[in-house]
Amino acid sequence: MGDYIVRTVGLKKYYRLGENTVKALDGVDFAVKEREFTAIIGKSGSGKSTLLHMIGGLDTPTAGEVYVDGRKLSDMNREQLAVFRRRKVGFVFQSYNLVPDLNVYENVVLPIELDGKRIDRRFVREILELLQIDGKAEALPGMLSGGQQQRVAIARAVAAKPGIILADEPTGNLDTASGHDVMGLLKVAAKQFQQTVILITHDNDIAQMADRTVHIEDGRIVKAGDRYAGK
Ligand SMILES: Nc1ncnc2c1ncn2[C@@H]1O[C@H](COP(=O)(O)OP(=O)(O)O)[C@@H](O)[C@H]1O
Ligand SMILES: [Mg+2]
Repeated sequence: MGDYIVRTVGLKKYYRLGENTVKALDGVDFAVKEREFTAIIGKSGSGKSTLLHMIGGLDTPTAGEVYVDGRKLSDMNREQLAVFRRRKVGFVFQSYNLVPDLNVYENVVLPIELDGKRIDRRFVREILELLQIDGKAEALPGMLSGGQQQRVAIARAVAAKPGIILADEPTGNLDTASGHDVMGLLKVAAKQFQQTVILITHDNDIAQMADRTVHIEDGRIVKAGDRYAGK
């Protein structure tokens, strides 16, 4: 287990809807190595977001376990989970979730400030440069394109130095070209800062850019792709 930074064991999430039970996750055994860039691909409703939420400690499973960095999430109390979410994982969503009246720089450093930590301005500059938004540091999100806004959201996730980035359809609102740009820059940033990325998508072209592709169908992993050496 020590080899894996994220591991799920028999993970299930069932929702009761009146007489019916929706099996959003139905026994997922899934593992990710440190610094790996994994894409989870599946159709709408296959359980992708549910799986990502469980890994990020945003929701609790019906059965099974999630281990991150060797720690069982179900052993953590509320406060420990909150600290885990703040320090260990960075989230990137399809909707960029930027604060509209803060500029790019302020958005990027906001989680660090909220966590009461010192801001490493040089590090933040480096991230903005890497994501090619350093020229936009003073701009408000509303003045940026979708691709630029998503790069700000990625910069914000990276800047807090979490070990793991969880990205839920980050290219879902972008055209093909900006989607590929964003994906490429996310890869570069993750490699540069030694972060593990789990990204979900329903787009095969986007998934192909990852180190490994895992297929999910009806809440089950149907194909856990090989890891490509040296990629
Ligand atoms: N809060 C919820 N209550 C009831 N059903 C849900 C809830 N969240 C997700 N589901 C159902 O679980 C299944 C998986 O959803 P989700 O993980 O969002 O899929 P994906 O992200 O792959 O589109 C779907 O059938 C969805 O309708
Ligand atoms: Mg989803």
